Amino acid sequence: MAGISKILENNKKWVSERNAKDPNFFKNLANGQKPKYLFIGCSDSRVPASGITGTGPGEMFVHRNIANMVVHTDMNLLSVLQYAVEVLGVQDILVVGHYGCGGVAAAASNKQYGLIDNWLVNIRDVIRAHETEYLRIKDDAQRARRLVELNVIEQVRNLAKTNIIQNAMRGDNPPRLHGLVYDIADGVLKDLRVDGEEMMHEMEHIYATEAVAAEPTQQADNQANSYEGPTEDPAEVVPGFEAKAKK
Ligand code: CO
Repeated sequence: MAGISKILENNKKWVSERNAKDPNFFKNLANGQKPKYLFIGCSDSRVPASGITGTGPGEMFVHRNIANMVVHTDMNLLSVLQYAVEVLGVQDILVVGHYGCGGVAAAASNKQYGLIDNWLVNIRDVIRAHETEYLRIKDDAQRARRLVELNVIEQVRNLAKTNIIQNAMRGDNPPRLHGLVYDIADGVLKDLRVDGEEMMHEMEHIYATEAVAAEPTQQADNQANSYEGPTEDPAEVVPGFEAKAKK
């Protein structure tokens, strides 16, 4: 079957199977979502979020990018995170890496790949932060696997650096942060047992921030009061204006 016709065919089959099991399945989903989990994973086609976690529609909010990164200038990730935490109220946030990650391998190499190098630099920062441990591993395959784990741990740390997570941690239902690694070779999902809360406390002297109410400063008040409106003569506003205008 050519193109996407197989996908559309599969969809028809899936709809009828779901309806056969539960005639209200789609009706219930259409009423809204209240997922318990946020999944931050790699875009790799071998790591399907719902498949490896046994979750169905409505159970998990998902964000995927190359090498499951939490980058503080990524509006996409930040928007997903804020919505998941503040609106949906997810209870568990999972950063899920995977062994054999092409993005991580590319970052570990010294080759240039173009635009993506600017994304991969965030993984190279992980190497730098853990350089001693990383270089001590002599076996290439083991070192590559460890980098995948270290990257997951650092991305959980990056979550803890955001004001979204910091504010949520002070709230009534603080979310739990988790770091996991999926093994493509055997399908097993391993919990790295990252303690997100402890991580946050370790770094709070640097990263902890509090919301402050914006109050007008005295200086701003003085400036506002001394303003006497627009001047009539444009030469007073723009030096040299008159001379040019007369030419
Ligand atoms: Co990957």
